[in-house]
Parts: sequence; C-alpha cells; structure tokens
Amino acid sequence: MNIRDIKPETLADLNMDPLWLPFTANRQFKQQPRLLVSAKDMFYTAIDGRQILDGIAGLWAVNGGHCRAPIVEAIKRQAENVDYVTGFQLHHPAAFNAAERLVRITPPGMGHAFFVNSGSEAVDTALKIALAYHRARGEGTRTRFIGRERGYHGVGFGGISVGGMVANRRVFAGGMLPGVDHMRHTHLAENAYSRGQPEHGAHLADDLETLVALHGAENIAAVIVEPVAGSTGVLVPPKGYLQRLREITLKHGILLIFDEVITGFGRTGKAFAAQTFGVTPDMITCAKALTNAAVPMGGVIVKNEIYDAFMTGPANMIEFYHGYTYSGHPLAAAAAIATLDLFAEEKLFERGEAMSSYLADAAHSLKGLPHVIDVRNIGMVCGIELESLPGKPTARAFEAFLRCYEKGILIRTTGDTIALSPPLIIEKSHIDRIFETIREVLKTLP
Ligand SMILES: Cc1ncc(COP(=O)(O)O)c(C=O)c1O
Repeated sequence: MNIRDIKPETLADLNMDPLWLPFTANRQFKQQPRLLVSAKDMFYTAIDGRQILDGIAGLWAVNGGHCRAPIVEAIKRQAENVDYVTGFQLHHPAAFNAAERLVRITPPGMGHAFFVNSGSEAVDTALKIALAYHRARGEGTRTRFIGRERGYHGVGFGGISVGGMVANRRVFAGGMLPGVDHMRHTHLAENAYSRGQPEHGAHLADDLETLVALHGAENIAAVIVEPVAGSTGVLVPPKGYLQRLREITLKHGILLIFDEVITGFGRTGKAFAAQTFGVTPDMITCAKALTNAAVPMGGVIVKNEIYDAFMTGPANMIEFYHGYTYSGHPLAAAAAIATLDLFAEEKLFERGEAMSSYLADAAHSLKGLPHVIDVRNIGMVCGIELESLPGKPTARAFEAFLRCYEKGILIRTTGDTIALSPPLIIEKSHIDRIFETIREVLKTLP
C-alpha cells in the first residue's frame, strides 16, 4: 500500500509496535501519533489531511523546500540508470560531480570532499582524518580532541565524546573516546536578546589556551565546534570568538573543525557559516541540506594541505582506511548535484540572507510575551527561549510544540527553546503565520 493511500480511518489499523522511533517518547507518541504523508514546498500534509507549515525545514535540512521537481527527477533518473556502485576501488561519475559542485561553494583552499551518509558519520570521519593526518606528518602524539559544552555532534561514539549534551552522554559514559576535553559554552546571560552576534564572550575561546597549557599542544589533534550551536538552542558565536579560536589553533598546530551539519547550505546567510563569520577552518562537516535531505548524505570537506598529506607513499596503497558501503551512493550524489544546482539557480542563499531581517524582526517581537526569557537569531535561524516550568525542564516548550502542531505549524523545541529554521524559500506571509501562531500559543501555555 502506498502511504498516500492511508486514510485517517485506517490509522487505527497501522501496527506501530514494531518500530522503535529515534529521540522520541515512543509510548507517548504511539498513543498520540503525528504522521505526515506528503510534502510540497513549505507544507507537509498530515495523515488526517491537514496542511502543516514547516517552520524547521524538516530538521534544519530541507533548505530548498519539499519535493522539489528537479531533485525528485534526478533521483528517479539515477535510480533507473544505476542503483549502486561501491566507492571502494570503483565508483561512478555522479559522486565526482557532486564533490566538484560542493567544493565550488566552500571557502578557498578547501578543495576536497569525503562522502558519508549522515552528520554523525561526518563527525566521526573528521576526527579520524585529524588523527591520521597528524600521524602522516610525523606528529602521532596529537591524539586528544577538544569539544565544547552544549555542543551536538551527532550520536556516534566520537560525536558524543566531543559533544556536550549530558542526556546524550551519561548512559554511554563507559564507551567514550579517551582524551577528550571541553571548552565552556558561549551562552552568557548578559547577551540576552542579542540580535545577530552577541557582544560578550570572545574571551571564552581562551579556554583552549588553558587546555594547551594543561596537556601540551603536541598532544592535541583537533578542536571541533558548531559555528552556531543548534541542538542546544541556537547559540550564536560572540563577536570575535571564532576568530580567536582560529588564531589559537593556528598558533599551536591544532586542526579546527567546524561542524556545519545545520549551518551549511545557506542557513546563516552564506553557503557556510565559515563564510558568514569570515573564519576558515581546516575541515567542515556537512550533511542534511547537502541533498535537501531527500537522500541521506554527509561529507567532510578538507583543506588541500590535509588531502595532500595523505597523497604520499606508494600510489598503489590505500591512503585512508576508512569509508562506508554507501559513501557517494548514486542516488545521494544525484540528489546532491540537483540540490546544489537548485540552490545556485534560485540564489537561495542570497534569498535567505535577504529574508533574515524579517525573520529577526518577527522573532524579537516576541520579547515581553509570557514565558519568553531570550530571543536569539542569525541568518534564517532563531531561538526563542522560554522559562522552564518549575521542576519540569522541557515540558513547557514541548507543550508549545504540540499546540503549534495542532494549529498547523511545525516548530522544533530543544530544551525549553523553540528553534525555527524554515526552508529558504519561505515567504513573508508564512513567517507572519508562524509567529502569529506562536504568539497565540505562548498566551495559553501553562
Ligand atoms: C551540528 C550537528 N552535527 C551532527 C549532527 C548529526 O547528524 P545526523 O543526525 O545526520 O547523524 C547534527 C544533527 O542535527 C548536528 O546538528
């Protein structure tokens, strides 16, 4: 049966028991399921036929809007043409074309991409590249990683080790990577209601100097940060913070990795946040909007020096013992090519940048409404932080999510922050509707 054929009255017949949903309260969900059966541009259609306006681009991912014809066509064509080719000692042209298009929009000097299937894989791959790179250059003592509190880098063991979200870590503490430290996060009370980059907090990058003094630079492989931390509530980097991190990493020969899984592909106003903030890292991890989320795909983009360091030794030797069965999968590569072409043809990054002040105005207009304690924004992303219900963190924001959903608006909440990251094709009228709904909902929340 086609999912489009499932009518509301058949929902009761759907056997939900076998599926274990990710990052979900499974029992609650199965009591009150939220199922979406089709999508087009800015809207999902729910199983009961309701139109749901997508305020979060699926999950910071569908930057070009849903089910765009050129992407759908490219995937169909590729599926008919070649379903699968391994990337191990063999490959197919679309993967090369996808990499070529990807590095066209990265900062200068970042000319090589390694394909994976998700953001988590991109992060673990980048960490492994860092270790192998230092080893290849005779600096094999550089094995430590530095992440940041409130960081999210996916759910692989590497990603949770450098990540800083306790709920994602505490149960797995025994399986973490050894030799990982965390810098402090950059979320400071004095920056509340900053529009764009906050004023205070550049000094927090000096935590890296402290860790260098503790361990010795010769033992540190890489620092990984999200330029804008998304999953812990839209934390925009303070002015000068990323620049300082870059200076310190360069001074000590430590690689700087920007995890751009959500900030990539126009979210902050330029192709990558590296360009928005004018700081070029050594590696960029990406995923999500790389294919407009139509087929899973991620990538690690590296500086030319990193790639070149691997391309030494006998030419018949495998340079990097790493890769996935689906690295550069034909369907993903076709989707990436069509997506990157669509972004360019429709000038979507510029469109997002032009629309960002309208989104910022709408977000900051919520100041003073019940429960709102902070509003943060950059590019086409904003966070509206609510005061937690006493003793029940996350409950108030989750209730806002449910009530918005009932009213036909899809928002995302992380902790007690509402995080919005709409497709870059969004119109002002959509933004108005999203914020009218949030406004109404805020007035009714417990
Ligand atoms: C910054 C960052 N890194 C990594 C990931 C993990 O990506 P995935 O869920 O595709 O593994 C995410 C997911 O939201 C993310 O926001």
